[in-house]
Amino acid sequence: SEKQMENRVREIKRELGTRLFMPGHYYQKDEVIQFADDTGDSLQLAKTAAANKEAEYIVFCGVHFMAETADILSEDHQTVLLPDLRAGCSMADMADINQVETAWEVLQQKLGDTMIPLTYVNSTAAIKAFCGEHEGATLTSSNASDMLQWAFAQKERILFLPDQHLGRNTAYDLGIPLEKMAVWDPINNKLEYEGNLEDIRMILWKGHCSVHEKFTMENVDNVRREHQDVNIIVHPECTFDVVQAADDAGSTNKIIKTIQSAPSETKWAVGTEMNLVNRLAQEETDKTVFSLNPNMCPCLTMNRIDLPHLLWSLESIIEGKPHHIIEVEEKTKRKALSALERMLQR
Ligand code: 13P
Ligand code: SF4
Repeated sequence: SEKQMENRVREIKRELGTRLFMPGHYYQKDEVIQFADDTGDSLQLAKTAAANKEAEYIVFCGVHFMAETADILSEDHQTVLLPDLRAGCSMADMADINQVETAWEVLQQKLGDTMIPLTYVNSTAAIKAFCGEHEGATLTSSNASDMLQWAFAQKERILFLPDQHLGRNTAYDLGIPLEKMAVWDPINNKLEYEGNLEDIRMILWKGHCSVHEKFTMENVDNVRREHQDVNIIVHPECTFDVVQAADDAGSTNKIIKTIQSAPSETKWAVGTEMNLVNRLAQEETDKTVFSLNPNMCPCLTMNRIDLPHLLWSLESIIEGKPHHIIEVEEKTKRKALSALERMLQR
């Protein structure tokens, strides 16, 4: 039963003590997040993974790219486990390293040595390594603006991987007009751009988050019509139109802080993953919090980590045969680390 599983998780956590560390992303299910040693957004979790030098086992409650990041930032004696290997990310899957290398070559022919690659942490270790190797860096939705400014201080143009929406929304906020943003289509190896190539400042990889793209202008219009005094806050992985039409946008961390510090009786329609919205709705009892899209929007891969998988992962440690170890190959790790360090040092 669920109670028995919960008790066993508690027992194993007690038994392993500081030999075990379990970070959990805000999008994780409540049945999992209740056991997390640290809860956060992608940036916080990368930082805590880097800071923990003690735990022998890091059981990552999140998705594959986050576990890879934890492995890249961990010490040699630490082993990172992902309770279900199917917990991937559809956005990270939209940029393959071979596609990125092809794009880089074609773009260099067109634009010369004027570009710096930046990748959202929601990407494979190989792409982080590519960015590290080409003097670029990683970023998260919490520091996207700082990292874009840093990158523009190095080069004229940014190749932004793999989320076109985060790239477009962040660059627009920094004053780059849409006319100066091109899109790279990795399926057809094609640069989508109508103007003069010299004017391009941002090259946006044509990827997106399948969860955040589900928040639409129709949702925004309906919510505004039904609730006159509503505040709409969305994640910058949402489309440009939706972010522009919302009252505010920001990383999961910013969404949480904004709603927590808002006055009582305020109403919030939130454009981000279902588990986080539901948790906020339960915790902020003096406010009304609901999903911007009434169909809710679960991240199916995040949700693959559930109590049975978590317990199975922990039991595998107790049995001395840890399952689903995430280990980034040494050379990739070294290069990816330099991209992550350029972010974490700022
Ligand atoms: P943040 O945790 O940086 O807000 O990103 C949200 C997300 O989609 C994680 O996969
Ligand atoms: Fe990937 Fe989107 Fe899920 Fe985050 S919410 S893990 S970006 S699919």
